[in-house]
Amino acid sequence: MAGQPTKPLLHALAGEVLDLPPWWLMRQAGRYLPEYREVRAKAGDFVTLCLTPDLAAEVTLQPVRRFGMDAAILFSDILLVPRALGQRLSFENDGPKLAPISDIAGLGVADLAMLAPVGEAVLRVRRDLPEQTALIGFAGAPWTVSTYMIEGGTSRDFHRVKEVAYRDPPGFDVLIEKITAATLAFLTLQIEAGVEVVQLFDSWAGALSPGGFERWVIAPTKQLVAALKTRFPSVPIIGFPRAAGWLYERYAAETGVDAVSLDTGVPAELARDRLQSRVTVQGNLDPMMLVVGGDGMRDAVRQLRAILGRGPYIFNLGHGILPETPPHHVAELARLLREPIAG
Ligand code: CP3
Repeated sequence: MAGQPTKPLLHALAGEVLDLPPWWLMRQAGRYLPEYREVRAKAGDFVTLCLTPDLAAEVTLQPVRRFGMDAAILFSDILLVPRALGQRLSFENDGPKLAPISDIAGLGVADLAMLAPVGEAVLRVRRDLPEQTALIGFAGAPWTVSTYMIEGGTSRDFHRVKEVAYRDPPGFDVLIEKITAATLAFLTLQIEAGVEVVQLFDSWAGALSPGGFERWVIAPTKQLVAALKTRFPSVPIIGFPRAAGWLYERYAAETGVDAVSLDTGVPAELARDRLQSRVTVQGNLDPMMLVVGGDGMRDAVRQLRAILGRGPYIFNLGHGILPETPPHHVAELARLLREPIAG
């Protein structure tokens, strides 16, 4: 049919109920794949891998080639935005390192030339992607990006960033506004190059109090969604306010996202009853289930499909795939997701 989207992921994001759920896995390109480790070794450094279009395109396509997911997610990183804002970024064995910022007011705007190779990678992926496979672009949501910018890396307790935010909320708003503007530019670049869906990763949304969540998770997300919808009304947006607990419902109601990605802790029945009438839901197999495999995994997948599969649903994990995941468990998952559900 001319003009009709043929990609199952886009149908689910438009609110349709499909017999077989479209699926992809967060962090599906990564260290659990030997072919990724090979390209990663060739690139040497992680930032170089993200910013070399041929290599980034190659690792984006690897999991789709092997397992036939319904979507590819662009290989990139949320920390390219602080880097474009002028922060020094490196990846060490214990994770990302950013030179902490001393002066929020002194931060400029994003240098888009530093992000241009990401658009080039999008063009290359689109050229080689099967026609039924959608391409997802992404960015970190402003709150999560701010945690890395202030803490200088991954944090356990978020003491520094919360101290800055709670001591001077209007001052912290300025940082959130600068990140929001840079994120909008980054996502615009990706969409103009050809991504068809975007996901906002708010991995640390669960760290804030309800008041902070309203101000620094919901408000900037709502602003980003509104700006993107004005320019690109047909590009669906998935939000992932990880570990938001009770606040998932407010996030789904207030931000304007088309879909929410559920973390491992969200009960499927609650998502069905309280979220799925409003938005498409995505998730939320425990990534450790995919490491362990076997009957436990099969039962968990069947249960998720039985509960969520009667509404608009995208199968995914509750967080990123773990490096120790055996690739043959992903192949088994792909088979399971193509079986019709009984009843
Ligand atoms: O999903 C995909 O396959 C696309 C690629 C992708 C990466 N990072 C590649 C990556 C995506 C969507 C991200 C998002 C991202 N990056 C988030 C949000 C999602 C989440 O996991 O909560 C965050 C918080 C980051 C920041 C980041 N990047 C951290 C904390 C780390 C170190 C942790 C780790 O897994 O090593 C990274 C590095 C990173 N980003 C890797 C990959 C494949 C591993 C780097 C390597 O190959 O050595």
